[in-house]
Amino acid sequence: MTSPNSAAPRVVLGVSAGIAAYKVCELLRRLTESGHDVTVVPTEDALRFVGEPTWAALSGHPVSTSVWDGVAGVPHVRLGQAADLVFVAPATADLLARAAQGLADDLLTTTLLTARCPVVFAPAMHTEMWEHPATRANVATLRARGAVVIEPASGRLTGKDTGPGRLPDPAELFDVARHVLARGAAGRDLAGRHVVVSAGGTREAIDPVRFIGNRSSGLQGYALARTAVARGARVTLVAANVALPDPAGADIVAVGSAEDMRKAVLSAAADADAVVMAAAVADFRPAGYRGSKIKKAEGAEPEPIRLAKNPDILAELGETRRPGQVIVGFAAETDDVLANGRAKLARKRSDLLVVNQVGEEMTFGRPDNEAVVLGADGSATEVPRGAKEALAEVVWDLVAARLEPLSPD
Ligand code: CTP
Repeated sequence: MTSPNSAAPRVVLGVSAGIAAYKVCELLRRLTESGHDVTVVPTEDALRFVGEPTWAALSGHPVSTSVWDGVAGVPHVRLGQAADLVFVAPATADLLARAAQGLADDLLTTTLLTARCPVVFAPAMHTEMWEHPATRANVATLRARGAVVIEPASGRLTGKDTGPGRLPDPAELFDVARHVLARGAAGRDLAGRHVVVSAGGTREAIDPVRFIGNRSSGLQGYALARTAVARGARVTLVAANVALPDPAGADIVAVGSAEDMRKAVLSAAADADAVVMAAAVADFRPAGYRGSKIKKAEGAEPEPIRLAKNPDILAELGETRRPGQVIVGFAAETDDVLANGRAKLARKRSDLLVVNQVGEEMTFGRPDNEAVVLGADGSATEVPRGAKEALAEVVWDLVAARLEPLSPD
């Protein structure tokens, strides 16, 4: 692969024959504009959706689908060997099947066989095809071999139908590519794992139009979900009132109140290897929901709102965990940060507690964070102020170190 800048990360962008190929032009633009050297390798049928000139012009490289073009350069071996990342989007059911079987009948499949770098598949297809046992088995095979196969998004498909099968947004696919490249040889240490992350802030209804809420934006939980996807995990993201784009590859369960969150988290935790409670869960809710809007009566004093205690989800996870499951909590403290953190870690029987000092401007809604991660084993890992993604990576490092090895079957 000739590169205008040999230091630029080399990406092979595989495109198979799905209508979502048009969205991948945007992914290609994002990759090239951020300094990646991208060679696009479509399948022959993919060119029915987006033509060769588009891929060539946007990538700045010639485009071929066949091992018979430019044979002197042995492209079917060279592309895969030289790549830092192979990213296939959209990955059709057929392409996943051919990759899982190890077929080598075009340039993309030969590249997949010769690549020793990280490989990401972003599937897109109709729900029936995605859920078919044959596709499930192919996805499982590819994941077991270390590939990242990200879950498709749910929503409107090509026809009138809706369901899982949509290609996630290009900006989110770009984020996965960036993360996987950044990890490089550190690899996909969460492959074969199911992790649950809660994010955002719960809302406790007072009446049909009012609620008690909090200032959590969901940024830290979303960073945890994104980084876990890039590390190969199956991710369930239980999101309470978050106004952020859906991270590619995470299965998102939207909830409102603490009670909704409890149900969703406990249900997803039943087969999870790790649960990270990054959400700000309201400790109290208004006692007795008013079915109709509270009116202000002229001249009368407002009625006080009495509060009832909410379930403590983290504490319940600590008590009911499956053997080997790693439980992580977050603690927002304003005073005596470490002492309060240690006490909370013990009280909630967590394995890890990410403690950060909060003030109105210090954490909420900011892209950065600083924290100390306390371990039940007495450890304390300081994470200096930096991107919430950097803190997320440290959390997953500490979780991965505590997971029991996967059984060989
Ligand atoms: N948490 C939870 N359920 C609740 C309250 C909190 O699961 N009802 C979780 C949060 O997601 C977080 C951790 O517990 O991971 C710590 O939350 P925090 O509010 O700091 O702890 P509290 O137990 O509420 O203690 P306090 O507010 O008294 O400091």
